[in-house]
Amino acid sequence: MTAFSATLSDLLARHVPGQTLAQPFYTSPELYQHDLETIWYREWLFALPAAQLDKAGSYQRLQIGAYDVIVIRDAKGGIQAFHNTCRHRGSIICRASQGRVAKLTCPYHQWTYDLDGKLLWARDMSGDFDPSKHGLKTVHCREVAGLVYICLADTAPDFDAFAETVRPYLGVHDLSNAKVAQQTSIVENGNWKLVWENNRECYHCAGNHPDLCRTYPEDPSITGVSPDGTFPEKVENHFNRLEAAGAPSRFKMADSGQYRVARMPLLDGAESYTVSGKIAVQKRLGQVPFLDAGTLLLFHYPTTWNHFLTDHSITFRVLPISPTETQVTTWWLVNKDAVEGTDYDLANLVKVWTNTNDEDRRVVEENQQGINSPAYQPGPYSATHEDGVMQFVDWYLTRLRAAQAPTTLAAE
Ligand code: FES
Ligand SMILES: [Fe+2]
Repeated sequence: MTAFSATLSDLLARHVPGQTLAQPFYTSPELYQHDLETIWYREWLFALPAAQLDKAGSYQRLQIGAYDVIVIRDAKGGIQAFHNTCRHRGSIICRASQGRVAKLTCPYHQWTYDLDGKLLWARDMSGDFDPSKHGLKTVHCREVAGLVYICLADTAPDFDAFAETVRPYLGVHDLSNAKVAQQTSIVENGNWKLVWENNRECYHCAGNHPDLCRTYPEDPSITGVSPDGTFPEKVENHFNRLEAAGAPSRFKMADSGQYRVARMPLLDGAESYTVSGKIAVQKRLGQVPFLDAGTLLLFHYPTTWNHFLTDHSITFRVLPISPTETQVTTWWLVNKDAVEGTDYDLANLVKVWTNTNDEDRRVVEENQQGINSPAYQPGPYSATHEDGVMQFVDWYLTRLRAAQAPTTLAAE
């Protein structure tokens, strides 16, 4: 057993259920690297909404730990993912974070690849050089109902169970007819798990999110994971009303705890995340049967949470940058035929979640700063308000313990 593995085993053994993690989980470079290797390099990761890649050759780059990945729309309309490293001497091929290309041409010696990764052209290579053996290395890539996921592992875990679970819920949101009205990326100076812990509760909402609280309920049964499997009558009635009208809504969670989907009510009378509570986009995205249908909540650890509304959809992506830095990217998706200035006012559309993201950035950064102190010690979660956070921490620790098991056995 390595020194790090022994330290991690000790940290895992000392963890008290119902309490926050010990400081090294949020600060240690070794633990961050371990998170990359046991979670980020193994699990399916949300990459982007398919609507982001609206034409053949449209691409976006993602940095996941040491990996640099290109996700691109190919000539046949499919979406593929490749490692951004040339098969000649290894240069990156795409320099920009996103854009559109006719072919993928390496800037170093101009080796040129087709949009499907095949090497098309390499100048003055010797006669025995075989271009077919030098295509770009692929990354697993799957799309479900307009959401694109990638996986860096050699052998990807199952994706089908997730896809089959969420596809019916997403159907009424019709993301295949979406366009990106706005995309933003911010960096939060906090560990990626603090970003998630903050997302998985609304204990902090009343004190920090004045705009969001006009429409989103603080009620823990909305944000949480219903540890006993029941919901208040009001939420049950909401599920029944929407399901009877053809919009799958009832709470479902993976046995592993990795993802959850549920259509939850907003505050009485609220339709969407606007300051007025009214829909932001008159030409709606999808066919949700009522304007007050609430928000379809979907999370999938470790990369994404989403709000699919009756008029537009908002999708979020979390990527770790360092032990204490995390990138959060947000896409606001609207009907591709909606016209800015006529069907929606962009400032009105993005205001609530732009402010909410910034408020969340601040609380996450302040959380990290306090944890950095030697005086920090794990504290208790609220069983009433933070069951969603405990569920996230359980999922995370289960992944770490599973990865730890073979090492422990081998050392015995
Ligand atoms: S490194 Fe890409 S063409 Fe040489
Ligand atoms: Fe928040």
